[in-house]
Amino acid sequence: MSKDKMTYKCVIRGSINIDEFFHVKNIVRPGETISSHGLSKRAGGKGANQAVAVVKAGGSVALVGAVGEDGCWVIELLKESGVDVSDIEVVSEPTGRAIIQLADDGENSIILFKGANYTSHPKTSLPSGTTHLLLQNEIPLEDTLAYLCAATEASVSTIFNPSPMPSDAELRAVPWDKINWLIVNEGEASDMYKAISGDSTQQATLPGISSTVYAHLPAYTTLLRLYSQIPKTNIVCTLGATGVLTLVPSLLGELPGLPEPIFLPAAKLKNGVVDTTGAGDCFAGYMVAGLMRLCEEGTDVLQREHLISVLKRCVQAAGMCVENRGAMESIPLAKDVDASQ
Ligand code: ADP
Ligand code: NA
Repeated sequence: MSKDKMTYKCVIRGSINIDEFFHVKNIVRPGETISSHGLSKRAGGKGANQAVAVVKAGGSVALVGAVGEDGCWVIELLKESGVDVSDIEVVSEPTGRAIIQLADDGENSIILFKGANYTSHPKTSLPSGTTHLLLQNEIPLEDTLAYLCAATEASVSTIFNPSPMPSDAELRAVPWDKINWLIVNEGEASDMYKAISGDSTQQATLPGISSTVYAHLPAYTTLLRLYSQIPKTNIVCTLGATGVLTLVPSLLGELPGLPEPIFLPAAKLKNGVVDTTGAGDCFAGYMVAGLMRLCEEGTDVLQREHLISVLKRCVQAAGMCVENRGAMESIPLAKDVDASQ
């Protein structure tokens, strides 16, 4: 299948940042003034990172967001990467920023400025032809939820990567039945369960466990608990160096019962861990591009083997991202992912 023929289109309503890395000997102490022996500036933000990941994975994507005048170069960069930038606004607020001190021993310290990401963005209508909506949590949550409602009304498939984690009250207010796919890491899955259920001790009785194959993975118990709270949502839980575990009710079709989990180990790294930033974003972008590809191939009913093939690419791509420095720039191209599998 040719990439040009893609009729499936993803929209991301999300953040765009400028990441400024100050290379320092030590992280600055209160009252101290230090010199930086290096400064680098990169495009970032989870919305932008995931948009680039969708494109590199072979999918078609439009990013809806805002930057200040100082962020016009980021729009250009995203455009050159193949992201549809026609709905990125230039506003009077400065572009969202991450000021990162990177110490020689690898320690870092970050100041975030929300900037243009939090300016009001009244438009919530989805561009025509949108089939998938991918959301994170680096813009006002009310905007995220407005897009979610618009997507549900238009029968657009929704994917939510709620990072950074919303507050407990916010988590309880999210209409989870409108979310088709949730992408979280293990800590986020546990926080979400506690917030939504109110079971802070995590002692509640679990639903009947049909499979004990994954009982050795503590994340499996966490996922079962979370699933009991949001039984309509397909859960994809990334486990860092361990891999990924999913609990996908869509695989049950109309059948009752508990979905059989899928576990895939993380990719074996050739060069070891270099920089894990952006691995989660790489995973999310590849996941959505994979779901779009399944639709493109006419896979109406999701099958276990289809999902496994999508997840395999995600795991390989995220592993390659970890092996290279940076976030956006370390996301690999689909052809390189496939060549190394
Ligand atoms: P996040 O960065 O959002 O917390 P994770 O740390 O779970 O997400 O990483 C996302 C994915 O990246 C994992 O599911 C895995 O596939 C890959 N990954 C992360 N760390 C490593 C690692 N050390 N070795 C191999 N793959 C990794
Ligand atoms: Na990286």
